[in-house]
Amino acid sequence: MSWRTHLGGDLRAGDEGTRVTLAGWVARRRDHGGLIFVDLRDQAGLVQLVVNPDEHRAAHEVAHSLRAEFVIQAEGVVRARSTETVNPRLETGRIEVHVERLEVLSTAPVLPFQLDDEGVDETLRLRHRYLDLRRAEMRRNIHVRFRLTQTIRRFLEDRGFWELETPILYKSTPEGAREFLVPTSSHPGRFYALPQSPQTYKQLYVISGFERYYQIARCFRDEATRADRTAEFTQLDMELGFIEPEELFALIEGMFATIWRDLMDDELPIPFPRMTHDDAMLRYAMDKPDTRFGCEIADVTDGLRGTEFKAFRGVIDGGGVVRGFAVPGAMDFSRKDFDGLVEFARTWGGKGVAWMQVGEGGEIRSPIAKFLSEAEVAEIVAGVGAGEGETILLVADAADAAVRVLGPLRLHLGERLGLIEEGWKPLWITDFPMFEWLPDENRWKAAHNPFSAPEPQFADSFDADPAAARARQYDFVLNGNEIGGGSIRNHRPEMQQRVFRLLGISEEEAEAKFSFLLRALEMGAPPHGGIAFGIDRLAMLIAGAASLRDVTAFPKGQGGFDPLTGAPTPATPAELRQYGIRVVTDPGGDATL
Ligand code: AMO
Repeated sequence: MSWRTHLGGDLRAGDEGTRVTLAGWVARRRDHGGLIFVDLRDQAGLVQLVVNPDEHRAAHEVAHSLRAEFVIQAEGVVRARSTETVNPRLETGRIEVHVERLEVLSTAPVLPFQLDDEGVDETLRLRHRYLDLRRAEMRRNIHVRFRLTQTIRRFLEDRGFWELETPILYKSTPEGAREFLVPTSSHPGRFYALPQSPQTYKQLYVISGFERYYQIARCFRDEATRADRTAEFTQLDMELGFIEPEELFALIEGMFATIWRDLMDDELPIPFPRMTHDDAMLRYAMDKPDTRFGCEIADVTDGLRGTEFKAFRGVIDGGGVVRGFAVPGAMDFSRKDFDGLVEFARTWGGKGVAWMQVGEGGEIRSPIAKFLSEAEVAEIVAGVGAGEGETILLVADAADAAVRVLGPLRLHLGERLGLIEEGWKPLWITDFPMFEWLPDENRWKAAHNPFSAPEPQFADSFDADPAAARARQYDFVLNGNEIGGGSIRNHRPEMQQRVFRLLGISEEEAEAKFSFLLRALEMGAPPHGGIAFGIDRLAMLIAGAASLRDVTAFPKGQGGFDPLTGAPTPATPAELRQYGIRVVTDPGGDATL
């Protein structure tokens, strides 16, 4: 016996007259006088069943007892629908199945929520994810994700890549994020760490001669969950031997063009534009610029050096900057609207925002205009490229503080004024700073990861002048989202040791933590580099979803809790003893070791 002969969702007009046995879920039941209609759902889609009481009394009785999400088996014949009942919105909408035998395989109680209800609380959806995943939207999202990884696998395997695994029980690495520690009862007091990424192992693969590695890899970072960031996520992780950035970019551009063609029937023009990190920070005040709209930021400090306006002069004399941008519109913004923008700037650590509106004939409306000379106003207007009907927003502050405010402010206004155009704007960001100074800790930190190589012109000087050094690192940005990042690595052990030394990692510490990598680099390491992409983020953009949770079958919810299983859960005293762990709970309720 087979449960079914066909998938109901696959039936078409050409199947008319075929006897079929179907199995699936009851999506909907409608009683129309005598006739009962049932929408049957299976992996392929929906199909309408019809049960006639006059012809098939027993089947009709069963149909009468059906409720949403019962699992049934139905046997009958495919018939064309009458012209007036054809449903053009359904792929199976030209036919229906006239049922002769119907059997309930499984029942369901009154459901905690209706599958076609749009506004169901997310925690309730996550608690009953097996129901939520039956909704058409979730099904489509999960399918997008599957097709994404399938397309990637085919593309890369056609180009000589091998999909290779790396361990999940790993050890701490200095990639920046907090790690999940895993105790083991074999060695109480010792811990594995879950990988933040397979970074070191993928380098070891290439050093071992597996020159084109990739993996759809699970990564773990013990960080707070946000719409675009989760503790557990998936990367497309890649590493190649004997590779230069331009070759890698061309390969990746081809891959994205294929994904867009296969999944969205859309052409993504290649090559993608490139922008240096310095340029991105100056023009967009972000390392992941959204280039779907203009409103580029300009530095107008030079034109204001002699100004009498104290608020600007004080900042400029103190080594700060005045930067701003113009937005088309916002001419009807009230005092209160602008006060709101000042508040917005404060939440980003800024002091405030000054504004200027360019009216008809270039007439300026601004509370600060009276403090500025005509020439200074003209410098500002020309500097940001403002025309009639545009509003200029200005921030005066230390350069890094101005950047922190201007980026979000530009995005906020872009969204609020509807300036963000439809479509896709991919972008490579290159020439990243190699190091970042941590003033509170009085030390340098690797801006990306400590394995990135310097650009050749900084190979000799990076430890003498770390602030100037640029790394052979690149990010891939799409519509203002950081989708991928990677670098060419240090393949010479001396270079890697110098980076460790600058980062304050002593030779002993480097030995203790990375002797495996250092030894490998000493024993015939080829030049190599790679990149990793956030599969969840990519699937989210392609599916048009609002959060990573919407493209993840079983995501964590608020605070990292899993509403479905209840994880993380406390361990019993007996379990803890096995691992040699004592839990100390502070009065706030947080467990600390
Ligand atoms: P990186 O840390 O930049 O690089 O990560 C690569 C990409 O992974 C995605 N991503 C995340 N997605 C969801 N939730 C998170 N918490 C999260 N963190 C990162 C982003 C990001 O661009 N080993 C290096 C790669 C390399 O150098 O080859 C790495 O992990 O889309």
